[in-house]
Amino acid sequence: MAPSQFPQPQDSLGKQYPLVDTAKAEPRGCFSFRRKRTWFIFCSVLLVVAIALGVGIGVGLTRGSSSGSASSFPSTQSTPLTNGTNATTGSFWKPPAGTSWQIVLEYPLNDTSPNVDVFDIDLFDNPNSTISALHALNRSVICYFSAGSYENWRPDADQFNSSDYGKELDGWPGEYWLNTNSTNVRRIMSARLALAASKGCDGVDPDNVDGYNNANGLGLTASDAVDYMTFLANGSHSLGMALGLKNAGEILNQTIDMMQWEVNEQCVQYDECGTFRPFIVADKPVFHIEYPNSAPDVSPTTKAKICDDSSAQGFSTVIKNMDLDNFVINLESGLGSPVMDIVSAIESSPRHIPVQDVDRRKDDVGIFISIAKGADFKLSWKTER
Ligand SMILES: *[C@@H]1O[C@H](CO)[C@@H](O)[C@H](O)[C@H]1NC(C)=O
Ligand SMILES: *[C@@H]1O[C@H](CO)[C@@H](O)[C@H](O)[C@H]1NC(C)=O
Ligand SMILES: *[C@@H]1O[C@H](CO)[C@@H](O)[C@H](O)[C@H]1NC(C)=O
Ligand SMILES: *[C@@H]1O[C@H](CO)[C@@H](O)[C@H](O)[C@H]1NC(C)=O
Ligand SMILES: *[C@@H]1O[C@H](CO)[C@@H](O)[C@H](O)[C@H]1NC(C)=O
Ligand SMILES: *[C@@H]1O[C@H](CO)[C@@H](O)[C@H](O)[C@H]1NC(C)=O
Ligand SMILES: *[C@@H]1O[C@H](CO)[C@@H](O)[C@H](O)[C@H]1NC(C)=O
Ligand SMILES: *[C@@H]1O[C@H](CO)[C@@H](O)[C@H](O)[C@H]1NC(C)=O
Ligand SMILES: *[C@@H]1O[C@H](CO)[C@@H](O)[C@H](O)[C@H]1NC(C)=O
Repeated sequence: MAPSQFPQPQDSLGKQYPLVDTAKAEPRGCFSFRRKRTWFIFCSVLLVVAIALGVGIGVGLTRGSSSGSASSFPSTQSTPLTNGTNATTGSFWKPPAGTSWQIVLEYPLNDTSPNVDVFDIDLFDNPNSTISALHALNRSVICYFSAGSYENWRPDADQFNSSDYGKELDGWPGEYWLNTNSTNVRRIMSARLALAASKGCDGVDPDNVDGYNNANGLGLTASDAVDYMTFLANGSHSLGMALGLKNAGEILNQTIDMMQWEVNEQCVQYDECGTFRPFIVADKPVFHIEYPNSAPDVSPTTKAKICDDSSAQGFSTVIKNMDLDNFVINLESGLGSPVMDIVSAIESSPRHIPVQDVDRRKDDVGIFISIAKGADFKLSWKTER
């Protein structure tokens, strides 16, 4: 499930920037990206200007240290309600912050070409062969399933009792909030974890664990969610698999020690990326999705805005459409403001040069700002420990 979409990308993205250009960006697929882990982040922005058409624009820009954003999130956590023996210990995959990814849940994965470290795919829809093919390509695999909702189309749907579930999820027909206390529900979820392990998944992405935030009809609370995440952590880790938290920022502090990553939807749109920074501080990825409603046509301004959210620095950001199909744009979040400032400066220059695209390119660290055929600014930066 995922909440609502950008109503109007340019207008809903805070500060207004002049948008001269209306050209649509071509999706370019995924780009590999490696980032050194960071505690103190120094950004220096370097503009390499390749200019065609005799357009003379000289821009120099230097960013100071932004280490304050990292150090303002102490990594002290509250005590989990329970702490199963294997909830925090064990031998399983532990990806670092900045790990790149792609997520496809709409259909069985049929495009393994994106040059990223991790694929998040549906547990039931994908055969073992897809997971082994990804492993052969040196990709890690996260298997998605809904842990907090009953979905009436899943192969094990007939094992749920009607007493196990409450209200239907708003906007998701056929899907109902689950009573995560139910021993029957936990038995089914243990079987799903075992299925994931048998398929060779490196980790699992259990969705809908924030029923407490929704009209669930069962009285689910945040404490129930912490207890359920502890159950899932023990189960995954016992089977040698990693797992992550999905949204659920309210229980981050109580569960982060047991989690290997966060999967977040729309924290830029809802201005809440800061909530998830403790994962970056702990050198764990924040797999972050934004869903501009125009996708797959995403304006340079919308991309620049997503790049600019300084509280998302170091997040593994993708732009997707709500279907979570093959379409993806990988961007680098959290530069502060230079991307938008530069887009704005270029477009409002006396020559009204349209910005055509803002994008990351394969095997490169930085953002390209394309202003005309063959004329690109490369905005790059260096991140140091
Ligand atoms: C949970 O387990 C971890 C690893 O064994 C340990 O460091 C931590 O203190 C435990 N927390 C509680 C509340 O028992
Ligand atoms: C942790 O999971 C293992 C394997 O599923 C199970 O045997 C054990 O009882 C669980 N421990 C706790 C404390 O839940
Ligand atoms: C992947 O599968 C979907 C659904 O069947 C299909 O629409 C799409 O064209 C396929 N893409 C590729 C690259 O095969
Ligand atoms: C496999 O991927 C990991 C990162 O996920 C990387 O560190 C390693 O160098 C890759 N190995 C090869 C042989 O490409
Ligand atoms: C729930 O279903 C299981 C089998 O799917 C059954 O063993 C159990 O008795 C049922 N519990 C209730 C309360 O109906
Ligand atoms: C493939 O997955 C099934 C579960 O769907 C599992 O039982 C089986 O052991 C797996 N086979 C291989 C070769 O990994
Ligand atoms: C789940 O169990 C806990 C502990 O017994 C209880 O406090 C809580 O109210 C239960 N939650 C639901 C939704 O039944
Ligand atoms: C903890 O996990 C290990 C594998 O990592 C497993 O051998 C062991 O049985 C588990 N212990 C419990 C109590 O679940
Ligand atoms: C988590 O802990 C941080 C640091 O102590 C605090 O700022 C934040 O408000 C906490 N989050 C929640 C949801 O309690």
